[in-house]
Parts: sequence; structure tokens; C-alpha cells
Amino acid sequence: MFTATKEIIIALDEGTTNAKAVALDGRGNVVARFSQPLAIQTPREGWVEQSGEMLVSASLNVIAQAVAHVGAENVAALAISNQRETAIGWYRSNGKPLNAAITWQCTRGAGFCDALRRDNLEQQIKAVTGLPVSPMFSASKMRWLLESVPDGQQLAEEGEICLGTIDSWLLWNLTGGAQFSCDYSNASRTQLLNLQTGQWDDEMLKVFRIPRNALPEIKPSSGLFGYTRGLPAIPDGIPVMSMVGDSHAALFGHALGEMGCVKATYGTGSSVMAPVSTAQCNIESLATTIAWHDGERLIYGLEGNIPHTGDAVAWMADSTGLSELSEKELTHELNTLPASVDSTLGVYFVPALTGLGAPWWDSQARGVICGLNRGVKRAHLIRAAMESITYQIADVVVAMRQHSDFTLTALMVDGGPTKNDWLMQYQADLLGCPVMRSDVPELSAIGAALLARKALTQVSVQEMKAFLALHSEFHPDADRHQRLQARWQGWRDAVERTLWKPT
Ligand code: G3P
Repeated sequence: MFTATKEIIIALDEGTTNAKAVALDGRGNVVARFSQPLAIQTPREGWVEQSGEMLVSASLNVIAQAVAHVGAENVAALAISNQRETAIGWYRSNGKPLNAAITWQCTRGAGFCDALRRDNLEQQIKAVTGLPVSPMFSASKMRWLLESVPDGQQLAEEGEICLGTIDSWLLWNLTGGAQFSCDYSNASRTQLLNLQTGQWDDEMLKVFRIPRNALPEIKPSSGLFGYTRGLPAIPDGIPVMSMVGDSHAALFGHALGEMGCVKATYGTGSSVMAPVSTAQCNIESLATTIAWHDGERLIYGLEGNIPHTGDAVAWMADSTGLSELSEKELTHELNTLPASVDSTLGVYFVPALTGLGAPWWDSQARGVICGLNRGVKRAHLIRAAMESITYQIADVVVAMRQHSDFTLTALMVDGGPTKNDWLMQYQADLLGCPVMRSDVPELSAIGAALLARKALTQVSVQEMKAFLALHSEFHPDADRHQRLQARWQGWRDAVERTLWKPT
């Protein structure tokens, strides 16, 4: 039982597949969790969208359940972490969406991005926004949204259309349309933000033809965003005290963004992110972004996105006949097979299943399994798929070393595949640095809650450390680290082979 004090923070983690709300007490313990799945539509090849109304109703639903569980009188604040880059537009006069929310995975802006490349704008865009030209970011989606309705451009210029990231959409709905703001981290994923000034950039607005009038006000990730108003099952007057992108929130939840800590989220793909104090946008292979504004200052982040990590293992499991197993049996197999053999027998699997992401960025690359011989069995192949996760993450960490601020003291990890101890030890041995695994699954929510706590009570970093999630530690073995360097070189040689083009 939690103690009833007005210390409860309800943190919403609005992801792509689920809306989750967790209630955290004054000591940072999770006292309740509620979750609701979110539907995704794929109306055409490469198009991925979600109903804006559904994102709101699911989010309000899980928040309402959490409020009811802890008692509204005990709730100090709401905190929001959200899926990034997803864009939505709505009419200011009635709050109705122009169209579905265009999610980060959607490539409908690809044609517009190709045109930007043809106009040789890539370097300028990267230098200003820190991001490579890609339909993943919000700007080309916002462009599409304005073109999807009659008079969209004109209405946006007149201020009748709001264009926002999901944090701003949720805030608008939580506050009964009273607040139209987003936080710095979400703004930095639109490709419209100037990383140096922290403001919408006039040149980028021109390039993407997005009227400034249509965009939200940018605010610190930790601070007052507004108060709940006019909602059926959530009382008026609860302050929203933080908003932050989910990957950024996880970094804060791991180690408060202390320099030297790098976080890697292991999922279908992976996001590797490190805090840095300056926006150095010339690192070709990585995105530079705003990690958060903690109410006092901006913290920048370096990020590398890898499309296939857990997915590489899932693909290999399917391809080697494990797809018939129940989820429980499959997890057991994946946990035991890699360690059941001493090596892959020299096999490498480079999972360029839809090209390669950071740090290679080659959308034409094709996946490769190389080094096969007669003795290779399923266990070796599964181990090669597992090892590919660690090499890909290590390659991003190496790319981060180009940033003058970058230091590495520990890799903080979260996500489903990190439950595999063998994988974590391999990652520590390969990198030669400790791997700290979060023992709490709701890291993004915890990060957002900590940012809200900071805004509410001005707690010091030292005090906040007491709230951090518990970690299991994996320390590198010096001999194994030495031996794995040759193997890592073999991986790089295998990556070269992905440039092979089928005829
Ligand atoms: O950049 C996209 C990311 O924020 C999506 O997060 O949790 O929905 O996979 P998630």
C-alpha cells in the first residue's frame, strides 16, 4: 500500500503500440500501472498512421484509471513521455484532426525528402537541425498534412490550423484546448528547430513551407505546461509538469543524463543516445538532438537509430524453424541457444533487412550471412544474430567518440532483449565498459516523472539519484575484451559485404 500524500506523480508513456500510465509515490516507487493497446493503420505500402482521437482517448483512459486508483486528492502532477516525430494537425476552432496522426515509421514524405536532396539542401538541413533528411522526421509529414485538406496552407497561415507532435496534441486535449505547446526534445525531432537558438528556424520553415503560426510554443521539458480542464474522468486543475520524447525520457530515467553515460534501448530496433553539452552537428553518421531542457539549461544528445536488433533475432528464429514455438518456449530457446555453443564458428549475420541505419546509413544495403560451413547449426546462427545486436550498438558508440564532449563510463540498457544475461555480458566484454541494465520496465515514464518532480520541488541531482531505477551490472572481462577485437573487425568486414547488390 502506498501512503496517501499529495506526492503522487502520474506519468503517461504514450508509445506507438501502447498507452501506459504509471503512478509513482514520493519515493519514486511505482504504485500502480495501467496500459491500453493502440491500433496502427497501414493504408498503403510505406504509410503508417494512427487515429488522433484514439491516441487521446486511450491516454485519458489510462490516466483516469491511475487517478482513480491513487485518489485524485493525492495527485501532485501529470508527466508525459511520448512517441517522437509523429505529426498531427487539427483545427484550432474545434480541435478536430485534419487527418490521422502520421507516425514516425511512415514514409509518405519520402518524395518531398527526395526533392530536398535534389536541391542539395541536405547539408544545410543537417547543419541547422542536427538531423539527416528523412521522412521519419515530422516536417515532411506536416507538409503532407497541410496538403491533405482544402486550403490547408492558407488556413495554417491564418492560424486556424495547429501542427504538432504528440506531446502538444495530448496537452491540447488535456487542457481543453487552452494550451498549445511542445517541449524542446519533441521540437528537436521535427526538423524545423534550430539547435543553436532553440527556436523554430526561419529557413527550415521556408524549406518545408510550414507557417510559424501553425506551430506550438516551445517550453522546457521540466516545468508547468498547463492544467487539466473539462475531462470526463479526470478532475480539473491537475498540473502537467513535464513533457519529453520517450527515448530522451529513458536516458533521464537511467542516469539523469550524466555525461559519460550512454543509453541503449533494445527493442525491435534500437536507439542509442548520449548526453553532450554542445550541439556539434557535423557528425555525419549520427543525429544531434535536444535531449531535454531541465528548466535550467538545454542538454543536447547524440543519437543513433538502428532498425534491426531484436528484429534480427526474431527473423533468424523464424528462418531456423523456431516460429512454431510458444512465446515462452521461444524466449527460453533464445536465452539458452547462444550460450550453448562456444562461438558462431566464424559466422556473421549482418541484418540489413531494410538497409542499414546508424552509423552506416545505407538504405540499399542487403542483409548477409557469411562464414557458413558444414558444421554450422541453428545455435550458431542464433548466436550470430544475437552478436549482431552488440556489434551494431558498439559501432554507434564508436561513432559517438567523434564528438569532442563524448566520454564513455557505462552503457545503460533497457528493453526486452536485455533480460538475456549472456547478451549483456557479451556487450560489456565487446565494449570494454560496464553495462547497467535497468530492472524497471517503465523507464520512459520514470524519466518523465523525475522531470516533473524536479519542476515541482526543485530537488537536487543528488536527491533525484535516490529515485533512479535499480540496475543489474555486467562488468567486462579484460581478456575477453581483447579477444573480441578481432571478432569485431570480422564483423566490420562482413558489413562491407552488405554493399553487394543482387542482379
Ligand atoms: O522515435 C520513435 C520513438 O519515439 C517511438 O517510440 O516507444 O513507440 O517505440 P516507441
